[in-house]
Amino acid sequence: MSVAFRVSGNADLRMRNTFGVAARAPLLVEVDDAAALPEVFARHVAGGPPPLLLGGGSNLLFAGDPEGVVLSLAARGRQVLADDGILGIVRADAGVVWHDFVLWTLGQGYAGAENLALIPGTVGAAPIQNIGAYGVEVRDLVHVVEAWEPASGRRLRLDREACAFAYRDSLFKREADRYIVTAVEFALPRTPALRLDYAGIGEELAAMGVDAPTPSLVCEAVCRIRRRKLPDPAVVGNAGSFFKNPIVPAAQAAALQAAHPGLPQFAAGDDALRKLSAAWMIDACGWKGHRDGDAGVSPQHALVLVNHGHATGAALLALARGIADSVRARFGVELEPEPRIVGARW
Ligand code: EPU
Repeated sequence: MSVAFRVSGNADLRMRNTFGVAARAPLLVEVDDAAALPEVFARHVAGGPPPLLLGGGSNLLFAGDPEGVVLSLAARGRQVLADDGILGIVRADAGVVWHDFVLWTLGQGYAGAENLALIPGTVGAAPIQNIGAYGVEVRDLVHVVEAWEPASGRRLRLDREACAFAYRDSLFKREADRYIVTAVEFALPRTPALRLDYAGIGEELAAMGVDAPTPSLVCEAVCRIRRRKLPDPAVVGNAGSFFKNPIVPAAQAAALQAAHPGLPQFAAGDDALRKLSAAWMIDACGWKGHRDGDAGVSPQHALVLVNHGHATGAALLALARGIADSVRARFGVELEPEPRIVGARW
């Protein structure tokens, strides 16, 4: 019989979070086949605190050690389930690296995921915070999320509607311990409907000398923009945007626009609301490039907190609180962290 999970005690998590902060798990269980989850729960989780599900570790901050078992889903299968020549249904296990998946779909002749290139993390994590970039969110591509519900022991298939996606949010994030995402099915078109209108993609394609963009060329343009704008977690620890762009009532946005004409504002999918640029407000408060020892704000992008070497999660959290305090004082706007904070409350 094949062993479907591996267990290690007092496990070092430093290389398992893209901030690269020190943390240890009392028990780490790496699950090679999601079918083993009931046995993993019965043996190692039952009666203890809810487990922490760790994907690529690119959207969390260990401000302390996790209390309970840490689970990592290692299955990395992917396949085309159906294709009628117009739309393909492709499935990937939770442990598949997101960017590898994007490249694979493009290689199979599918469009849709090109704007989401180079986002760190795994397929299983993608729907949890509804990853998004350059005018596309993963909810635009999701067909079905497969999940396991520990409380009932049921395996579920949740369609896009049932996932209740919102900006950097979903059912899985709101009910953090209720479901374990085990795989995702995506519906991807063969004929591309390219989104080039956002944050410099058109300009980047022009600079590349492209006049007939394809999904692969858009992917390349997005990679170039991201490499230039965002620090690479392999070089300096970070978790991408540390704060969400705040969504405020339209009247408040209008007052802020009058007081701060440079503050970028975006549609929020509801006329009564506007989305504000958190990066701009943080930058305006003077934080860009700031350092408290090894905890800092990226000199490349004001929304990205970085670990220059040996910052603790607690130091990064203290810095984040300082940033949120100054944005509140100057703009009257509340910033919310985007990554999950483990071992402390925001
Ligand atoms: N800006 C500044 N200072 C900076 C950086 C940006 O003032 O240091 C201002 C500029 O005016 C710029 C505006 O902020 O025009 C928006 O910046 P950007 O285009 O980089 O987008 P963002 O709103 O800061 C969001 C996502 C990113 C995603 C980009 C591109 C969130 C929280 N972040 O950033 O996602 O890559 O748009 O679509 O929604 C992530 O979630 O981890 C992430 C990196």
